Amino acid sequence: MIETVGDGRTWLLSGPSSSYALHLADGDTLLHLHWGPRLTAADAEALADRPPAPYRPFESPLDGHEEYPVEGGPRFVRPALSVRTVGVRGTEWRFDTATTDADAGELRLRFLDGPLALTLHYRMRDDTDVVERWITAEHRGPEGAPPVELLRADAATWTLPLRDAWRLSQLHGRWAAETRLVRAPLTYGEKVIGSRRGHTGHQHLPWVALDAEGATEEYGEVYGCALAWSGSWRISVHRLPDGLVQITGGAGHDDSGLVRLAPGDAYVSPVFAALWSDGGFGGASRAWHAWQLAHVIPGAADTRPVLYNSWEATEFAISEEQQRELARRAAGMGIELFVVDDGWFGRRTSDRAGLGDWTPNPDRFPRGLKPLADEVHALGMRFGIWVEPEMVNPDSDLYRAHPDWVQHQPGRTRTEFRHQLVLNLARADVQEYLWEQLDGLLSSAPIDYVKWDFNRCFTDAGWPGDPYPQRLWTEHVHALYGLLDRLRAAHPGVAFESCSGGGGRVDLGILARTDQVWTSDNTDPLDRLAIQHGFSQLHPARVMAAWVTDSPNTQLNGRISSLRFRFVSAMAGVLGVGGDLTRWTDEERDEARGWVALYKEIRPVVQLGELYRLRPPEGGLSAVQYVRGDDTVVLAWLQAQHHGEPPAPLRLRGIDPAAVYACRDTGARHRGSVLIHHGLPTGLRGDLDATVIRLRRC
Ligand code: GLA
Repeated sequence: MIETVGDGRTWLLSGPSSSYALHLADGDTLLHLHWGPRLTAADAEALADRPPAPYRPFESPLDGHEEYPVEGGPRFVRPALSVRTVGVRGTEWRFDTATTDADAGELRLRFLDGPLALTLHYRMRDDTDVVERWITAEHRGPEGAPPVELLRADAATWTLPLRDAWRLSQLHGRWAAETRLVRAPLTYGEKVIGSRRGHTGHQHLPWVALDAEGATEEYGEVYGCALAWSGSWRISVHRLPDGLVQITGGAGHDDSGLVRLAPGDAYVSPVFAALWSDGGFGGASRAWHAWQLAHVIPGAADTRPVLYNSWEATEFAISEEQQRELARRAAGMGIELFVVDDGWFGRRTSDRAGLGDWTPNPDRFPRGLKPLADEVHALGMRFGIWVEPEMVNPDSDLYRAHPDWVQHQPGRTRTEFRHQLVLNLARADVQEYLWEQLDGLLSSAPIDYVKWDFNRCFTDAGWPGDPYPQRLWTEHVHALYGLLDRLRAAHPGVAFESCSGGGGRVDLGILARTDQVWTSDNTDPLDRLAIQHGFSQLHPARVMAAWVTDSPNTQLNGRISSLRFRFVSAMAGVLGVGGDLTRWTDEERDEARGWVALYKEIRPVVQLGELYRLRPPEGGLSAVQYVRGDDTVVLAWLQAQHHGEPPAPLRLRGIDPAAVYACRDTGARHRGSVLIHHGLPTGLRGDLDATVIRLRRC
């Protein structure tokens, strides 16, 4: 809901439980008024009438109070917008127009400075407390006017209320160790996270959360912000000298040039979304999940199938016959989607060759992919393939034909990671080549699913001959989005998974055009609990792919764990199996069939329900609970039991204290208030034990 308040220069956006207010003050200064619990129009007016902060020598009266601080004038904070025109840096904006679209929940405020127009966009839909912000910058000068360079153009600056102290939560990581949650006090100065790698990166999810008064999982105020961008990015959290906190974020890491606008050009930033919740970290996560399921993830009301992927079992040593054999075994276990990973195309018998040549390897698939796809379909499963379209191996037909199609600097080394280079997707000819290859591939066989990988960072991001080569950083991402959007439109039955060596490209931008993400190359079921705990702070289980692989764990640590533990760990997301099924015994495959069947039953609750993190994966016992309608599912894991003590009963959340719940496995009946206050015993014991408990309201 949007209200224009009082003198028409104050705006109030409200969701179910929160409000956001801003005010255009004298001198066309756009001030932040409020972000937090719901306000009335009269409250917002009263806030707008409050006197400005007192004068302080050496401090700016604007810093910490503006909606979108720009470079120039009396400001010392990090600018969200930095512009270079001929001979001048910085801007002085004059207010132009305000437009609202009540149905869409949108507010647009336009400002002008010479030939430049800046629009601040706000959107808050009726069913969510998520506020989405982004900007548009347009060059409206006459043809032939000098260009304008945006050195930096953040999507938004978020302002927090004054509190005595703030704590910052972030999700950090690296390959095979993504999305690990850390919390620390926010000291004075700036905390900057981001990626200068060309992709979102394993190192930080583009999300932060702040709480001032010791929020817990279920109680207290939490502010969160997340950026919808899959290229390099930066989020800066700034605690100013007077204790105010602002968070600014957008595309690009440095301020060295984002785009150059000629007359008629416009730059649209990614969305920087944010949310206030007074339901603790859990309440914030549930609000984020609900918003993504309703407004971000395509077709999110449909649950995702259980998949099989042989990467860990076979790596590059694949053949059609071997894949058929695996498919038969997967189908026998109740798997619904069979995915052929790397190694099916070009001369791709190792990571040294083949990327770029997207036709089936003639020795491995002499009749193309269709016969295998048909057989997989005949077995009752969908068929998927792996691709990595943005890359090329120097040993490929594509590179031999077009060595200039890769990002490179003239006369400099072309740095290889995993023996591959990055294609310059900003080039129209590269985009067209990839479109033709991928459209042709999806038309050549009945393919239902594409795992889209990205296995190295940008290093030599040059574009010899182009007048403004740094544009490739943003244009690469726009080209990727354009390609995915075009493929989805042309092949509406095909689902896409975003992968980047595991979770190197997980963000709200890619999730608007993919159906799920590969969470991590780390499939160790114990490590995964921590990765999944972090992931769930922002994203729902509906997109979090998780595989059951072999024991001992072949990829990372040799850890031995039961099928039970591995399954229950992977059942917390979109279940998949990635083990070498030819080495699983009949008993193991029988047991697996039972777990897959159980997962299918609980799947709507897990993938679409509300998540309660009952106990974090530190220490002995951890558990999550999902609630959907009358159904509740609890997944619990015990790392190690000590001193013969039974693990604590799990105090459930999100259920009705006045209702009675029946356990669907034992038939035991539990009173809601007892489950909430005294807990549900798990029966877990020993090391690496796990359980699934299904309850239904009677
Ligand atoms: C990446 C992915 C893996 C697998 C390999 C194939 O590392 O994360 O799952 O697809 O590439 O080369």
